[in-house]
Amino acid sequence: MPMPGTNTIDLRSDTKTQPDAQMRLAMSEAEVGDDKSNEDPTVRRLEEMSAEVLGKEAGLFVVSGTMGNLVSIKTQTRPGQEIICERQAHIYLWEGGGISVICDLLPRLIPGVHGVMDLDDVEAAISNGSNVHVGATGLIEIENTHNMAGGTTLSVEQTRAICDLAHAHGIPVHCDGARIFNAAVALGVDPAELAAPVDSIQFCFSKGLGAPVGSMICGPRDFIEAARSVRNVIGGAMRQAGVIAAACIVALDEAPKRLHEDHEHARKIADTLVELPGVSVDLATVQTNIVNLEVRREDVDAQSLCHALDAYDILAIPRSDVEIRLVTHKNVNDEDTERVCQALREVLA
Ligand SMILES: Cc1ncc(COP(=O)(O)O)c(C=O)c1O
Repeated sequence: MPMPGTNTIDLRSDTKTQPDAQMRLAMSEAEVGDDKSNEDPTVRRLEEMSAEVLGKEAGLFVVSGTMGNLVSIKTQTRPGQEIICERQAHIYLWEGGGISVICDLLPRLIPGVHGVMDLDDVEAAISNGSNVHVGATGLIEIENTHNMAGGTTLSVEQTRAICDLAHAHGIPVHCDGARIFNAAVALGVDPAELAAPVDSIQFCFSKGLGAPVGSMICGPRDFIEAARSVRNVIGGAMRQAGVIAAACIVALDEAPKRLHEDHEHARKIADTLVELPGVSVDLATVQTNIVNLEVRREDVDAQSLCHALDAYDILAIPRSDVEIRLVTHKNVNDEDTERVCQALREVLA
């Protein structure tokens, strides 16, 4: 894999963004303290801002989305319980098995349509623990937007429905909202509406929002205090973390205003791809900043297409022999999008 240069368009992930000048300035000027003792004023400000934006009582700053999910889930479950999640959930596929390795949970997987689980399937999977052969359901997890499904959204109504079902059984719901702001922008709703029904949510500053490091857990104050202890146990308490929180404050203030541009760019790339022979994109899934495409041709596969794009200084990675995921973000502008579309036409026409 070549190293990205200044002219490189990196579509591998929205985690590849560079901090901008405003973020770097905020980082250099940040007032800091010992966050492990809850004494970092910049982290505290970020936690308060985040909780307010999501309409929750409190927030807890963590280093990554993986840690945000892990701490949220461990705080609300007991070893030996089951966790219900979608079959391609990020917590199940891509977080090193932390839900089992660290939380001691058994995943109960539900196949979704565009990442959305059917309520009847979820209800059928719920266990109240009365059968000694089956662990009780400790938590239901949803992902918004759903990464593997192609950045698809879960609406306020869908979120409410699954939470109502869970709560009727006394089960909490955690939302992996790594890209919850993308979801809110695409759905045209306030992010607090998407967060309102869930018991806990984590979102990432280092994806669509474009900051270099950090994620936030939000929820009720007593949950956040319990989560603070769990974060400490797994070595996630930081010291003068205000240096990174400062960039996250800029991201939270600025990025949501421009996420619609990333979605337009993804749509433009998808619209170009569907016109090209032997390539398919399910346009119904292109709702935010991710485009999943399939290449089914004799002369090109996912790997060779990515190699061909390297020559145009465009980075992409295959997800399988025939699948590629392209992700737009704040370092991909209108001109870059046009360059990507033109390269795809030249390689695939
Ligand atoms: C939906 C989702 N959740 C969680 C994560 C994990 O975030 P991190 O890479 O910051 O640990 C990712 C990362 O891409 C993701 O896409």
